[in-house]
Amino acid sequence: MEKEKKILYSGMQATNTLTLGNYLGALKNWVSLHEEYECFFGVMDLHSLTVRQDPPEFRKNAMSLYALYIAAGLDPEKNCLYFQSHVSAHAELSWILNCFTYMGELARMTQFKDKSAKHADNVNAGLFTYPVLMASDILLYQADVVPVGVDQKQHLEITRDIAERFNSIYGEVFTIPDVYLGKAGAKIMSLQDPEKKMSKSDENPNGAVMLLDDKDTIIRKFKRAVTDSDTVVRYDKENKPGVSNLMEIYSTITGKSYADIESEFSGKGYGDFKLAVGETVAEELAPIQKRYNEYLSDKEYLNNCIKNNDDKARYFSNKTLRKVKKKVGLTEEIR
Ligand code: TYM
Repeated sequence: MEKEKKILYSGMQATNTLTLGNYLGALKNWVSLHEEYECFFGVMDLHSLTVRQDPPEFRKNAMSLYALYIAAGLDPEKNCLYFQSHVSAHAELSWILNCFTYMGELARMTQFKDKSAKHADNVNAGLFTYPVLMASDILLYQADVVPVGVDQKQHLEITRDIAERFNSIYGEVFTIPDVYLGKAGAKIMSLQDPEKKMSKSDENPNGAVMLLDDKDTIIRKFKRAVTDSDTVVRYDKENKPGVSNLMEIYSTITGKSYADIESEFSGKGYGDFKLAVGETVAEELAPIQKRYNEYLSDKEYLNNCIKNNDDKARYFSNKTLRKVKKKVGLTEEIR
């Protein structure tokens, strides 16, 4: 008998447009995973509510992310691409797991500390319990692996802790998920401050390349990228973080090794190198942008994908939710 595929789960917040970091650290790696895994990718719109959103803009961004998933190459027939908020099991399991998570654990999350410092006027309870909702996303689908960038690793660890705690009380309810870090691109840094990760919320707009930036903007941002006073293109994360980050971007897209990149640009200045990286990125993104615009204008196609995949996500997640409710002793619904 053919062995069933292992389950893989991931997703992105539906805030603003994606950065090159989201693409290289996550989306690009996801595209071929369905060959090996049963894949679920959510548009994590409930998570986005932890920061105040403008409703029309938010709706647009969430739909835009859905279209970008498909444009980047995720086939909605082979991957379950759905909206987190359309599947009520996420919020329900999240409540239950809140009761199995300690304040002390959540208070140690570095993302909570960073985000609450950044949004000091809106340190809401959702921001605090954000990792519990994320744990619920993953555990509902009994995921074996979760591909994420380095910045989400701590959230994966707390997910495992919560799942193990729950299982130790009620038996084997949840699969314990493993983190799956892509080989390259797991942490793309800001072009303006290579000590910080590239992020949508970078105050300096030149720090992050957006997936929907046009060619001129992309090249301009790379030309302005912060490097060092040396002139040699050499991989040295410690002493040359800016150049090393550009090399990582270039290598992730072209598949070239650092040694090959060093010899390709030996004797050439940073100007040539930055231009080459900019052009490579623009070329990589151009077909995605073209497909994105096509999908976004085909509402009927998108709605159809959403409907089918939302149903599939509901079916899988409800199986786990029913089991959890029974285990904790909630009374059964009479239908
Ligand atoms: P989010 O939306 O911040 O990021 C989505 C994915 O992109 C990765 N990423 C990066 N990778 C490399 N370099 C960067 N500069 C960079 N910036 C972001 C992130 O690691 C992530 O993989 N909490 C999650 C969303 C989420 C989720 C989940 C993920 C909610 N529930 C369940 C996996 C499973 C988040 O905010 O990702």
